[in-house]
Amino acid sequence: MIITIDGPAGSGKSTVAKAVAEKLGFEYLDTGAMFRAVTLAALRAGIDLHDQQALSDLLARVRMEFSPGQVVLDGEDVSQAIRADNVSKSSSPIAESPVVRQHLAERQRQLAAGRNIVCEGRDQGTVIFPHAEYKFFLVADPMERARRRHRQLSQMGEEISLEEILKTQQERDQRDSQRALAPLKPAPDALVIDTTNLTIDEVVARIVDVVQGRLP
Ligand code: C5P
Repeated sequence: MIITIDGPAGSGKSTVAKAVAEKLGFEYLDTGAMFRAVTLAALRAGIDLHDQQALSDLLARVRMEFSPGQVVLDGEDVSQAIRADNVSKSSSPIAESPVVRQHLAERQRQLAAGRNIVCEGRDQGTVIFPHAEYKFFLVADPMERARRRHRQLSQMGEEISLEEILKTQQERDQRDSQRALAPLKPAPDALVIDTTNLTIDEVVARIVDVVQGRLP
């Protein structure tokens, strides 16, 4: 069974998806981490992030391994490095790249095939798994989302002002929502949950209740 959880940055989807997977005994796929891994690889290789041929060559050359909570790039654990602010800032051209989306879409479908899995990202319910059994789309007030990201970055030792985070977040939301390929939007059959005033536990409980048939 496939459960998709999509939504903008800071809507709580990573934390929620992980917890839902754990409660249900499902596996978990963080597709944002995959786009981040390609972004980091491209930054390190010093290539033009808009050059489709260079991105295609890069994808053929690098080895990326994805397991829950861990990303390994050419043998190096980059699980922390992909969360850095410069990777977030540079991720838009990578997310807009047809070559990258095609490559990652195939890997996402392969990773999920035959499994009970919670897949989180932007396009999981719309493009990658249009026939998923359950689809959720998380939203939250932009200021609350920026506060969550600020806390997360502080815990990692990155001190960036709330204002700066809000600005980057707005730009990324806009590009994610307006791009031609796989834009950020709820699938017509997704249940939209506003997490602004809900705790993580409340969101998780609501999703688990729906999947287990206790809530419509
Ligand atoms: O979710 P996260 O912030 O880690 O995602 C990083 C970037 O990857 C997002 O800004 C988005 O542009 C892109 N992304 C995407 N499709 C997905 C997951 C992430 O375009 N399924």
